[in-house]
Amino acid sequence: MSAATAKRPKLTVEDASKFYDTPTGRTHALDRFSMDVQDGEFICVVGPSGCGKSTLLWSMAGLHALSSGRILLDGEPVTKPSPQIAMVFQEANMLPWRSLQKNIELPFEIRRQAPARDRIGRLLERVGLAGFEGKYPRELSGGMQQRASIVRALSVDPSLLLMDEPFGALDAFTRDEMNLLIEEIWLETKKTIVFITHSIPEAVFLADRVYVMSARPGRLSKVFDIDIPRPRPLEVQAAPHFVELVAEIKGSIEHKAPARPAAA
Ligand SMILES: Nc1ncnc2c1ncn2[C@@H]1O[C@H](COP(=O)(O)OP(=O)(O)OP(=O)(O)O)[C@@H](O)[C@H]1O
Ligand SMILES: [Mg+2]
Repeated sequence: MSAATAKRPKLTVEDASKFYDTPTGRTHALDRFSMDVQDGEFICVVGPSGCGKSTLLWSMAGLHALSSGRILLDGEPVTKPSPQIAMVFQEANMLPWRSLQKNIELPFEIRRQAPARDRIGRLLERVGLAGFEGKYPRELSGGMQQRASIVRALSVDPSLLLMDEPFGALDAFTRDEMNLLIEEIWLETKKTIVFITHSIPEAVFLADRVYVMSARPGRLSKVFDIDIPRPRPLEVQAAPHFVELVAEIKGSIEHKAPARPAAA
């Protein structure tokens, strides 16, 4: 393919570095991290705790400014939150005084737009929450709340979905269910997804490519292509190739103690 016809990546991270300066000192969280993500890819990022994964994702969302380097979405620098980018966090972050429907409609209210009720209805149906629109968060299980937060993120029809350990707080059964659901939704919608997780089996199950980060400051340490055909049933996790990939990725993760923050 010539340079002129080469496909522009959906998302580009170029030499991203981030320092946090706080009254207690400076932390070097991210160090010249680069990645290219093509439209419709499912990318997982793994790495030791505190290595800068959330910092990277928040920067992709335009919620954190980088110290140097840049992030491009469709070739345009990401410097602030955009309607093209939605995020799902570990906690569902539902407002307790609002019903499920009203929680899902919140991003529209913030933007002073009419809620996309048809789309929301279809998504609620899709994740098995039809009929629960009037319930309050306290009346829903953790898995149901997290499904609702996925509906909330997708309801604005973003082109990039960022997920920061979205299933980390769920029990193993619910997590398996959610992994199947997110794979199905991704196959149907072909959104571009960047998904952070502590679970290497989860990363191998979901991803087209797994990026491994080093201990802080987070650098790109290794990239693994996951060549397992889709759709991937849960049973694939017992297949020898799956188990080998998990072991290979585990072996590539550094387990050194994280560096201390520099003195002020
Ligand atoms: N707002 C902030 N102000 C100051 N330091 C921060 C801030 N956010 C993160 N850090 C520091 O930056 C480093 C990377 O944090 P980050 O949350 O990105 O790591 P992580 O890989 O997501 O960790 P975990 O796997 O535990 O969620 C940590 O040392 C953390 O203390
Ligand atoms: Mg994090």
